[in-house]
Amino acid sequence: MSTGPPDSRPEKVRVGRSFGAAAASYDGVAGLQRAVGQFLLSRWADRIGAPGAILDVGAGTGYFAAELAARCPRARLIVLDIAESMLRVARDRLGGREAALYVCGDAEALPLASRSADFVFSNLAIQWCPDLYAVFGEFRRVLRPGGGLLFSTFGPATLDELRQAWATVDRYAHVNEFAAREAIETALRRAGFGEVISSEEIRVLEYGDVWSLMRELKALGAHNVTAGRARHLTGKSAFRQMLDAYAARTEAGGIQASFEIICGYARVGGSAS
Ligand SMILES: C[S@@+](CC[C@H](N)C(=O)[O-])C[C@H]1O[C@@H](n2cnc3c(N)ncnc32)[C@H](O)[C@@H]1O
Repeated sequence: MSTGPPDSRPEKVRVGRSFGAAAASYDGVAGLQRAVGQFLLSRWADRIGAPGAILDVGAGTGYFAAELAARCPRARLIVLDIAESMLRVARDRLGGREAALYVCGDAEALPLASRSADFVFSNLAIQWCPDLYAVFGEFRRVLRPGGGLLFSTFGPATLDELRQAWATVDRYAHVNEFAAREAIETALRRAGFGEVISSEEIRVLEYGDVWSLMRELKALGAHNVTAGRARHLTGKSAFRQMLDAYAARTEAGGIQASFEIICGYARVGGSAS
């Protein structure tokens, strides 16, 4: 029996359920996700080219699938997400676009044929996957030679204030653990990607109080989905203790929450044919 710290790997079923429940509220609170996706598309716009088929992994409500469709009107779109209700919203958004396929599936085991895409886009989705080797191995498998990947994910400093506040209360993993940029680059190279370029940045957002932050995470579907979470309901006094510990970090007024954003581009060797 393990005596180490509790496991913090996300559980797939909970991830799908959690995001599925947030499909209706997601767009209203996804400011950070929008900003990061726009940054990805503008920073590496010249790398997108004119792909025949684009796969959006963890497409959510389809906002960026629609952006990609507008940028690459001739491309066939594969819109993939683990949560079916997210896909329904995406389908409504993309409306009458004929060259679009909606696939409910897991980024770690893509239900797609090898070499079926020329470009993979994935904005703030792969942080919910415990096995980055599986994710990038799958991206590599479905890409054709010369194909490109644009992705963003959260880094380890994400929600550090919340993690530290909970650490004053108990040893449960109340906040997901996220991979560091070096580990991401290593996983990309090991999967067979070349031309790996990445960047990281900390964005600090302000909230009125911890409740506002928790409400937003819930509306995003991004609240705690860790395997090591407390199996019992967290008691009121434990929650109060966490709130006090978080508030103690605050100078005046609201609270701050940090998000470490890791963005990257990578390409499969060989030339597109
Ligand atoms: C924060 S949302 C981002 C949605 C979209 N990319 C955007 O930028 O608005 C994360 C999405 O990833 C999906 N997701 C989480 N884990 C996944 C997995 N293992 N495979 C596929 N999709 C996943 C969730 O259901 C959710 O829709």
